[in-house]
Amino acid sequence: MTEKVWGGRFREETDSLVNRFNASIGFDRRLYAQDIKGSMAHCKMLARQGIISDDEASKILAALGEINREIERGDLLISDDYEDIHGLVEKTLVGKTGSLGEKLHTGRSRNDQVALDVRLYVRDVIHHITALIRETRITLVKIAEDNLDLIMPGYTHLQRAQPVLLSHHLLAYNAMLKRDGERFNDSLKRVNILPLGSAALAGSTFNLDREMVADELGFDGISENSMDAVSDRDFVLEFLFNASVLMMHLSRLSEELILWSSQEFSFISISDAFCTGSSIMPQKKNPDLPELIRGKTGRVYGHLISLLTVMKGLPLTYNKDMQEDKEGLFDSADTVEICLEVMTKLIGEISFNRERLRAAAEKGFLVATDLADYLVVKGMTFREAHEIVGRIVLYALDKGKELNEISLDEMRGFARKIDQDVYEWLDTEMSVKRKKIPGGTGHDAVRKSIKKEKEDLRI
Ligand code: ARG
Repeated sequence: MTEKVWGGRFREETDSLVNRFNASIGFDRRLYAQDIKGSMAHCKMLARQGIISDDEASKILAALGEINREIERGDLLISDDYEDIHGLVEKTLVGKTGSLGEKLHTGRSRNDQVALDVRLYVRDVIHHITALIRETRITLVKIAEDNLDLIMPGYTHLQRAQPVLLSHHLLAYNAMLKRDGERFNDSLKRVNILPLGSAALAGSTFNLDREMVADELGFDGISENSMDAVSDRDFVLEFLFNASVLMMHLSRLSEELILWSSQEFSFISISDAFCTGSSIMPQKKNPDLPELIRGKTGRVYGHLISLLTVMKGLPLTYNKDMQEDKEGLFDSADTVEICLEVMTKLIGEISFNRERLRAAAEKGFLVATDLADYLVVKGMTFREAHEIVGRIVLYALDKGKELNEISLDEMRGFARKIDQDVYEWLDTEMSVKRKKIPGGTGHDAVRKSIKKEKEDLRI
């Protein structure tokens, strides 16, 4: 490494091992666009404030634009000879403009510069992720709308509990993803704050117009405290937390897809294009994609815990420890983005086995709660009704029958209040329909919520 932005005070060359260990160019190269954008805004402001001349500014801006294009085109190699992306951009600028380029760093430190770059990056990624979340939600809502007649067992403890609409089940994931999107968007008001002007830690002696830079870069405001601004990474932590919650939700949906596509459930099949085979067992068709999404959740959690640990106990202000914020951030963003894309395509490739779903909903006394509700309507307390239905279930188990297969006479042996109309309550379809309550699984309620979600998604 030859190109340093801090060589003056040093008599000896840096040890090559130190260069290798210290450098972040290997990963912060991803911030080149943000770095250049931030530098351009800073440059314009320096000119406006009379710190550099307009002519100087336009030369610097032209060169920065050129560097950006060259990197984009792959003409400018991001070489490991530099310590980090800030050094690379600055040294390349100086290479193009001579000593003029050396003026750019006036009133700026890499400490506020890196904080700026990471904020710009997180902001961009949030916009991308929320757009991808929207795509996943659109797909879920569409599937829910197209399959409104499909009834399946709802589970608690992975035991059949009550019949529900498949649509209702899928819309639960839409609700989770909606909150995830909101959480990312809410965090923007903390992310979208300009740290530049904080310089190393104490602010600057130059008359910098921070508001102008904030406007130029589309920030909602400027940081209030220079020491906080250069040492705060809670906006990254918040991003990682939001990413973790999102991955947790995707992992739950993945787990259900894995279960549902197993022979034991056989509720769905995933198209061949989205499954893989086994190298030894010719018959296998494996749900690798949801498994990978479930598995990748681990690394995103890991990055959250890792950065929390990096930041723990750090004295103010900037410490090099904080360079460790980036790889986990980038990896989390990449992971979340690809998982969302895969999930959206994957669920679009599912076909539902309506007979299996329905048959599963008919077996296992899923309407037992309806029977208890029926007895309450007939005047019993719920606890009494619960007790009686429990006994009827035991009886049915002994007889190897479902509740709707027990005769009225047999049933009346348990409670005189039971009449012929009980069978309406023991019908799976009716059981679902009766859950008219807002937020419930009844067809009407689900139809309403699909309408609402479509409005929300503007589709
Ligand atoms: N590569 C550094 C980082 O990512 C940039 C800031 C360096 N600042 C410093 N004073 N060493 O944190």
